Amino acid sequence: MPKKVTKIGVLTSGGDSPGMNAAIRAAVRTGLYHNLEVFGVMRGYSGMIDDDIVKMDSRSVANIIQRGGTILKTARSKDFYEPSGRQIAYDNLTKRGINGLVIIGGDGSFKGAQKFSNEFDIPCIGIPGTIDKDIAGSDFTIGFDTAVNTAVEAIDKIRDTMDAHDRLFIVEVMGRDAGYIALHSGIATGAENILIPETETDIEELICSLTEKERRKKLVNLVVVAEGDKFGGAEIVKIIGQRLPHLDTRICILGHIQRGGSPTCIDRLIASRMGYHAVESLMEGRHNVMVGILNNKMNYIPLDKAVKAKQKITNDWLRIVKILAS
Ligand code: F6P
Repeated sequence: MPKKVTKIGVLTSGGDSPGMNAAIRAAVRTGLYHNLEVFGVMRGYSGMIDDDIVKMDSRSVANIIQRGGTILKTARSKDFYEPSGRQIAYDNLTKRGINGLVIIGGDGSFKGAQKFSNEFDIPCIGIPGTIDKDIAGSDFTIGFDTAVNTAVEAIDKIRDTMDAHDRLFIVEVMGRDAGYIALHSGIATGAENILIPETETDIEELICSLTEKERRKKLVNLVVVAEGDKFGGAEIVKIIGQRLPHLDTRICILGHIQRGGSPTCIDRLIASRMGYHAVESLMEGRHNVMVGILNNKMNYIPLDKAVKAKQKITNDWLRIVKILAS
């Protein structure tokens, strides 16, 4: 029989993503509903080590569902990689009687949680919070939808200038090693080419496609590049400048604006569902799983699987990109 969870800690770790606050709110309020004591751990695993842990009540999460960032702050803790750091973290939790954790973050955060719960007897439930959508077991991760919408809004604006000047624009979006932000924002803005790390970028093919478009008098072209692409935006613009110097080419790297801002309705909803189910899962005795949503149903996947098995970009997506960009 798993031990009854009575006091839980909630933390956000890794890069912030819009909707994390909605997940914190849901976890805190579900915990309180079940008469659990709820603690917020500040700055992810760093706060566990530095003993920066605060008691949460219903009011501590008031008026945050619409706010980007995370009220608990976040960090990428190097000390937590060390066994000595994890021991201190464990001691700080146990002196308060915390016997369950909800970790909102991405793959680095889940790797940490997995290690921690293998060493110590504290069940950990992960909630996928990252704009990159690079986690298996969930159709969406918290923040992805907002990030894509931010990218789409920015690219729509860039298109006005593209169109006015007959320019070729290279727009680089975030995503670390994953191409989802590029794929989704590229399709939604009618990009002529989308370059992602999941497929081998062929420079000759890109040059050929731009030359062919020029031949057809298609002078306005948009190439969306994922930052994790083999070349990346800066290299692509350099190569195009050398190979097609007569084109009026510009680059825009969207950067961290994709991580901020008020979460979309979809992000608020999935965050609320996941936060609620994370706490229910702890109470049901689940441990070391991530709560995801697949086909609109809750889905539970071991933390190590969520990290190892990335989502796949199917050929169907790639076919859509090719056909619609013609
Ligand atoms: O994982 C989220 C993310 O925004 C990635 O898309 C990006 O590569 C990285 O974090 C940037 O990290 P930092 O904010 O530490 O520069």
